[in-house]
Amino acid sequence: MCGIFGLITKEKDLPVARLIREGLERLEYRGYDSAGIAMVNKGHIEVRKKAGRIADINKDGWLDSTPGTFGVAHTRWATHGKPVYNNAHPHVDCTGKIALVHNGIIENYQDLRKELAMRGHAFQSDTDTEVFPHLIEEFMGKGFDLKDSVMEAVKRCKGAYGIVVIHADNPDYMVVARKESPLVIGIIPGKTTFCASDIPAFLPLTREAIVLDDNEIAVLRPGEVEIYRVKSGERIQNNHFQVNYSIDAAQKVLDGKAYKWFMHKELHEVPRKIRDQMSMTQDRLDSFAQAILDADHVFITAAGTAFYAALAGKFQMTRFGGPYIQAILCSEFIDAVPEMKPNSLVIAVSQSGETADTIEAVRYAREKFGAKICSIVNVVGSSLTRYSDEVIITTAGPEIAVASQKAYCTQITAMSLVALRIAELSHKYDPAQIEAFRKALLDTADVIDHLIIEEGKIREIGLKIAHADNIYFLARGLGQAASLEGALKLKEIAYIHTEAYAAGESKHGPIALIEEGFPIVFVAIPDQTYDRLIGNIMEMKSRGGMIISVVADYDSKVTEISDYTIRIPIANSPEAIAMAAVPFAFVLQTMAYFIADSKGLDPDKPRNLAKSVTVK
Ligand code: M6R
Repeated sequence: MCGIFGLITKEKDLPVARLIREGLERLEYRGYDSAGIAMVNKGHIEVRKKAGRIADINKDGWLDSTPGTFGVAHTRWATHGKPVYNNAHPHVDCTGKIALVHNGIIENYQDLRKELAMRGHAFQSDTDTEVFPHLIEEFMGKGFDLKDSVMEAVKRCKGAYGIVVIHADNPDYMVVARKESPLVIGIIPGKTTFCASDIPAFLPLTREAIVLDDNEIAVLRPGEVEIYRVKSGERIQNNHFQVNYSIDAAQKVLDGKAYKWFMHKELHEVPRKIRDQMSMTQDRLDSFAQAILDADHVFITAAGTAFYAALAGKFQMTRFGGPYIQAILCSEFIDAVPEMKPNSLVIAVSQSGETADTIEAVRYAREKFGAKICSIVNVVGSSLTRYSDEVIITTAGPEIAVASQKAYCTQITAMSLVALRIAELSHKYDPAQIEAFRKALLDTADVIDHLIIEEGKIREIGLKIAHADNIYFLARGLGQAASLEGALKLKEIAYIHTEAYAAGESKHGPIALIEEGFPIVFVAIPDQTYDRLIGNIMEMKSRGGMIISVVADYDSKVTEISDYTIRIPIANSPEAIAMAAVPFAFVLQTMAYFIADSKGLDPDKPRNLAKSVTVK
């Protein structure tokens, strides 16, 4: 969690501090409690930091005018210590010559801190991070250079880190290291080097990137990178690659149109991202689907929105001939699955590929029980991809809004494709039928194009419940993934208390809250659950509930008993209905966006949240 951006260059006259601040702002989705910058300036370190958001801190160009030739900046999502000045990064050692930023958590920081304090180090913050500059200071005091001191310091730290270190007396390099927290390097060969928590942060400056692996350390000079393994000290080769993301990924612009919020822009990207996902290679699908069919026990795990996508994916994979799949929240996995039988497989779903709970679950399954890991991940080179036997990369591209949406849509599309490949490999459907389902899946992109054109109608209905204190979301079967996702989106970006229940469960307790005008959103996919759902709608309606239903365009029965409907233009065919999970969720994501915007909230950076949750 937390964002890091650093820059070192040979080019004269570059506005270095401003470029660092701009890069940092592209990472603000990772945390926005406090921010700061440290620059090497004529033999000393200049640090400017404060609590608050970057734009406020940089009022009157305070960060941009930091003097110095190169440096590093940090935007924080507080874990250890409140978001106040002292806890903001960068942190410095006792001499003030070493400055460091950190993303991750040092688990043994209390022991290290005691030990360092006993040897006379003075701590300024409550953070776990601050042990790093003091450890580095000690190793430098023993005669190690900066790189070797960082190398020795990280060996003493347990936990996760992406760090960047600068030293006042080293005017031409900085040192970065990583373990279980992301850190990527951008390079303009011979001129400038960047380091950041993700690629889009330096995308407007270069497309040439190097992903640092776990337990690696790198020395960054202007336009040059040397990478070493922490354990052996051995130098290893750089694997440069060209990033093919669109430059628009890091900007609120799509097809030349400027957007107020990333979330709105990213929702509008969904149709093209679904089309991209549909053209994934057959090889990837084959080995992923075959691995599922070959396993004796299959689990699926994820957190938050990715978990709701997993629920839809599990439903599809089982329905199209795959095995029963047990879904378990990744944060519960270790406790819920004390034993795993041989030949088990875990499907992990994650946008970032860095969620600590997800990584913990897959490492537990893999390292303790030898389970095979198949992942659906959006970020190439992320930690989860490294712990996986099979990986499908979703085509959502960089998702900047903290609330996930296009990633959810591509995750379900990818898992639906796996489901259809399972159907083919298990010969449970004939090829023409499978082709019709595949076409219906592709058609969801057109359906969403229509929904976007008519999004004003979604907004109108959203405004009717924008000021509710509580809202229920009810659905059955496949619709539940959409309902859970719609409820989560409203909670996280519009701060409305919502609960999503299986509609059949609502009469076992939740119904007690229903009184005149209580809003209930029903996801009414016209599948085998439809008639039973009507029963649940009537139960709520007869107690005064305000019924908002998401229905197929051709719907009449649910429409008649609803106060408001959001209509999805899917075809009236079994194939279109079976593939409707994404459009039915998309409208609820869009509705949440409009509600947040109408309340004057920032849907891109909801309070207390961060894009990737790298703490357990
Ligand atoms: O990066 P991941 O997909 O693993 O993240 C999982 C959740 O933290 C994430 O989906 C979270 O729930 C979002 N805030 C949802 O919008």
